Amino acid sequence: MVLRRILTVADPKDLAVLKQVSAPVAEITDELRALADDMLETMYAAPGIGLAAAQIGELRRMFVMDLSDKDAPPEPRVFINPEVVWASDELSTYEEGCLSIPDIYDGVERPARVRVRFLDRNGDSVEEEAEGLYATCFQHELDHCNGVLFLDHLSRLKRERAISKVKKAKLAA
Ligand code: NI
Repeated sequence: MVLRRILTVADPKDLAVLKQVSAPVAEITDELRALADDMLETMYAAPGIGLAAAQIGELRRMFVMDLSDKDAPPEPRVFINPEVVWASDELSTYEEGCLSIPDIYDGVERPARVRVRFLDRNGDSVEEEAEGLYATCFQHELDHCNGVLFLDHLSRLKRERAISKVKKAKLAA
């Protein structure tokens, strides 16, 4: 497994990649599973609870997630060609953060419950209901596959402030 560099909004070149729409995965190969392992290792090291392939510059529709409690055994999950097939009218707001936007957190309103579909790392098709943190995280990571950042759900002023804050922090580091 290889630790990969996480692209951030502080770098205009990284941001240009993060804004792109990822391509569907055509086939689940050993290479793709190795990529998933790299993504999980990178996510755990960050540390974070979700990471999309686009965030390490791989424009493929795929993300990884682990929502297990801190003291519980890890529950690594891989989501390939993820989709939301149904979303509730009911909305909920979560304080979101993103490994590509370090140290910025803000409330984002999204459907509270969604029905999701994806392929797991074995290529098996899974369809299930998601709610709470899982629903939010799935939608956040799916956004990455479409070149959308959680900042894009906020006002332009908030978005610009957040990006300049990340840039300043990078310069100070
Ligand atoms: Ni993110």
